Amino acid sequence: MKKPRTDSPLLLVNIGQLLTLRSGGDSGPWRGAALKELGIIEDGAILCMGGNIVSVGKTKDAVRDQWIKKNGKNIVEIDCSNKVVLPGFVDSHTHPAFVSPRLVDFEKRIAGATYEQIADAGGGIRSSVEAVRKAGKSQLSEKILCALNEMAAGGTTTLEAKSGYGLSLDSELKSLEAIREAAAKWAGTVVPTLLGAHVVPKEFQDRRKEYVDLVCEEMIPQAAKRKLARFVDVFCDRGAFNEEDSLRIFAAAQKSGLGIRAHVSQLARTSLKRILRFRPASLDHVDHVNDSDISLLGSSDTVATLVPGANYFLGLDKYPPARKLLDAGVAIALASDYNPGSSPTTSMPFVLSLACTQMKMSPAEAIAAATINGAWALGLHHRKGSIETGKNADLAIFDVPDYREIPYWIATDMCAAAFASGSIIASSRGFERS
Ligand code: NIG
Ligand code: FE
Repeated sequence: MKKPRTDSPLLLVNIGQLLTLRSGGDSGPWRGAALKELGIIEDGAILCMGGNIVSVGKTKDAVRDQWIKKNGKNIVEIDCSNKVVLPGFVDSHTHPAFVSPRLVDFEKRIAGATYEQIADAGGGIRSSVEAVRKAGKSQLSEKILCALNEMAAGGTTTLEAKSGYGLSLDSELKSLEAIREAAAKWAGTVVPTLLGAHVVPKEFQDRRKEYVDLVCEEMIPQAAKRKLARFVDVFCDRGAFNEEDSLRIFAAAQKSGLGIRAHVSQLARTSLKRILRFRPASLDHVDHVNDSDISLLGSSDTVATLVPGANYFLGLDKYPPARKLLDAGVAIALASDYNPGSSPTTSMPFVLSLACTQMKMSPAEAIAAATINGAWALGLHHRKGSIETGKNADLAIFDVPDYREIPYWIATDMCAAAFASGSIIASSRGFERS
């Protein structure tokens, strides 16, 4: 098969299972039993034009369609027999703006050190900073582009990308520029986030408040003015930034018209009450939440984004309490948290697998959390996260007959192709020849 051109209509037919995730409407991120409703069409078909989905239904209806019959020659048709087609994954939490893996930390952890012990001994986030500060923008952007392509290979078509390893005005803006440069070379969608408040850099060691001033008074306004970021994130946790710092940063983000998200309760409990008043789009990790946090989250529109890749890689026994969160009506998303310290994976299928085996989410819940709720967590639910007329033609094709096989096969790449706005961005498993 020739690589489909963006301007040719694209018709996927004979889809074994087409997961539309169409049932949700516009009333907020999905919760509870809704997360089990994948809206499956068997023997499905999807027609895409101009980068968007124009119709979704059964193959038998598509082949009878007059317009399709008339324009058959110009349509690129893809046979998806025995395959699953779902919305491209929306990976709503990644940190791709780094230079090197952290192999010393990796070995120390294997030998028994914890994430915080490693950070205290000069490893951790701060140890990724020097290389980012030294790197040229294009070097950084090449690294990011490699990660975007790897993500696409696993079926991701939209992602959020944070800065956070520069920790100075220039290097944070450079990281965001590198994200923008990489995104411009990729057909998928990248939502940039300023994470200047990842940790306090060494040179501000005993001057945390001054560093927060820098974030609030320089980084955020400049990133907003230059349209380099859509969100501001804060690592609000033990050893990073406290509640007061975070609230100041959120206020600055709001003032500059940027959205808010935060890392919370990863290492120790973060108090969520005042944070939630800022109506963050997403609060991420949420390992150490108590019952009152869970009920506050359940009655908010904030998505709780779970990143079990971090728990896995840090060798933790405990995972975020997904079942408790789901039972309390919390809107859950799943994301990779791709980063060099705690979650060096670009693979959403692997994250789904962890969600099922370690957090006891069902395969259906995991897929909804990684598609439509990821889109809600990024404010992109109008364009992304489900296969419906009018949405972007962002599709992942998996070479399996049953969607439950996506999390079932561990660390095995079952993604045959990914399309972003109707353009192919990844293919494997002989897909070109099909
Ligand atoms: O999401 N928690 C803070 N940030 C990352 C870790 C980043 C790193 O260790 O480099 C996380 O796990
Ligand atoms: Fe993170």
